[in-house]
Amino acid sequence: MIFENLKPQVESIISNTNIDKKDQLLKVCELLETHISYYNWVGFYFRNGNKEELILGPYVGAPTDHTVIPFGKGICGQVALSNQNFVVPDVTAQDNYIACSLTVKAEIVVPIFVDGKNIGQIDIDSNTPDPFTEADERFLEFVCAKVAEIL
Ligand code: SME
Repeated sequence: MIFENLKPQVESIISNTNIDKKDQLLKVCELLETHISYYNWVGFYFRNGNKEELILGPYVGAPTDHTVIPFGKGICGQVALSNQNFVVPDVTAQDNYIACSLTVKAEIVVPIFVDGKNIGQIDIDSNTPDPFTEADERFLEFVCAKVAEIL
């Protein structure tokens, strides 16, 4: 099971204090994008201080124009308000969606909590239609909990 193999690698990146936090987050993105075939864009968004907006953090995949996303806008902005995972099997079926690339078919966003507060999220885009299962959600919750330890 790929997720079980990846978990210790995520832990190892998070416990490596020889590199700075941004590089740790980037390595997590690289790990996921490299090993999970249907993860085609992997990135972090974080709340911008006390502002009701998200700022793009480390990511791998095609560059995006959407480096700032107001709360409520797009899938990411909705998760900033709902505090819940958002699994989108078909992005064309979403009205409140921000397209980053025409190749993207599906998206999953999982919030990151520090001291019970939603401080950001991991965002995955897939070029495969309807690829995400509950196993992805559980795995990404694990990743977000690990990442929260260094934030
Ligand atoms: N699709 C996202 C925007 C971020 S990109 O996927 C990188 C959204 O609707 O919030």
